[in-house]
Amino acid sequence: MDETAVPAVVEPKCPGCALGDRRVSASGEIVTMHELSCTALPAPGAAGTSGVRRGGPSAGKPLGMATMPAPAATARPSVSAAVPRLRSGELRAMVAGVLADSAPAALTPRVIAARLNRSSGAVGNACRTLAGQGAAEVASTSPLAYRATTTTATAAAPARAPRRKPAAARRTGTVSTGAPAAPAGKRSAGAVTGPVLRPNGTEYHPRLVAGTMLPDVTALRRLKEAGVAALLYGPPGTGKTSVVEAAFPDCVTVQGDGDTVVADLVGDYTKTPDGEFVFVHGPLVRAMREGVPLFIDDATLIPPTVLAVVYPAMDGRRQIVVKANGGEVVDAAPGFYVVAGHNPGVHGAVLTDALSSRFSVQVQVSSDYDLADQLGVDPKVVRVARNLATRQERGEVGWAPQLRELLAFKKITAVLGIDAAAANLVGIAPEVDRDTVAAVVRDAFGRIVKPLALGARITATTR
Ligand SMILES: Nc1ncnc2c1ncn2[C@@H]1O[C@H](COP(=O)(O)OP(=O)(O)OP(=O)(O)O)[C@@H](O)[C@H]1O
Ligand SMILES: [Mg+2]
Repeated sequence: MDETAVPAVVEPKCPGCALGDRRVSASGEIVTMHELSCTALPAPGAAGTSGVRRGGPSAGKPLGMATMPAPAATARPSVSAAVPRLRSGELRAMVAGVLADSAPAALTPRVIAARLNRSSGAVGNACRTLAGQGAAEVASTSPLAYRATTTTATAAAPARAPRRKPAAARRTGTVSTGAPAAPAGKRSAGAVTGPVLRPNGTEYHPRLVAGTMLPDVTALRRLKEAGVAALLYGPPGTGKTSVVEAAFPDCVTVQGDGDTVVADLVGDYTKTPDGEFVFVHGPLVRAMREGVPLFIDDATLIPPTVLAVVYPAMDGRRQIVVKANGGEVVDAAPGFYVVAGHNPGVHGAVLTDALSSRFSVQVQVSSDYDLADQLGVDPKVVRVARNLATRQERGEVGWAPQLRELLAFKKITAVLGIDAAAANLVGIAPEVDRDTVAAVVRDAFGRIVKPLALGARITATTR
């Protein structure tokens, strides 16, 4: 990723009054700070308000994606209601909770507001009240920052007291977590089952997480809410990137490779047209500040020492120090989450213990050949792919066409015809497996198929 190409002003402006500084609402929408109080705009959550969204980039077995029955309805990424109202004194207690949790660090009202997804003005008032009560102290005046005192935790108690259980939960003795596991054999309520539009405009067809009744898109969103980092792994072209983009259309993506350096994640100095050098924050900092997911694709190609810069943001601290920018401290806003993709078969991929232990959920992604059928890929080539996948599992071949190759087969057929598409399939097989692939293609298509190649020169007679 070439961060030097990013212009100096990286934060979009409030559409109402052109002030900057973005933040994320409780519903996951990105709005500007000012947009929350801007009188030129409808209140957040009011009818007609639209947030500014970023387009993007089985038992005993590993967790994986299973085929889901053909979807019935189209679902779009949900946009939920406005920030809930608080009872009197509740915000103050919540602010005290943030200060107590961060002790002995000093926090500005703005940072606290971002963590709580509340207006910084209201949080500033709460800080002043707490300081007046001795439940917080002013740590610095420029910028104005507060830190916890010995009584801050007590002031936080009302916010931490468990709310009364809902009647149903009281009867059964269960507590709703807000992200209930799907009961066996029953689709989870609110699950995303229909096609989801990805930022690139293509449709993603959700799949069930094997051994559950939970669609992958829903599962990822719930893992995010629960703060459980997820790693998707599998061969190229199976759907790892697609499912993440479908689940988190507002995610910030880092495409990992062996040349990725710390600056590609946190940012670097860049020259403005005026000849000044300004620090342009990288995707990690942007995702932390905006409270959106960070998708690290091909994470295991990134040198482990570079990737380690993300770990403090994922750990309890949810904070990083940007050494390259004078030790700037960046706190993760609510909504920040890390999800990664990994292809174990790629040369140079290293899944270190440090990386693996931070991704508590690791989901294997393999091709959904039923989906290829549903998407209109020629049944003969789907049969070829299934056959080769079975042989691959038995260790007889090292390669089988995945969903990407099958979707490409369909497109190539439309342009060059099915014979050329079949010939191309043989040609793209790794040399070591080509004879086997050619034999399986021959059996399915009923004729010998050679790799796609150029033929004779066009002459006057063939013109
Ligand atoms: N469930 C799905 N619904 C619709 N299209 C899908 C689905 N899964 C994968 N695809 C399609 O399959 C192709 C490959 O998917 P994708 O790029 O996500 O694979 P990947 O696993 O990320 O591959 P790589 O490891 O090479 O990055 C894409 O064209 C994508 O649109
Ligand atoms: Mg990918």
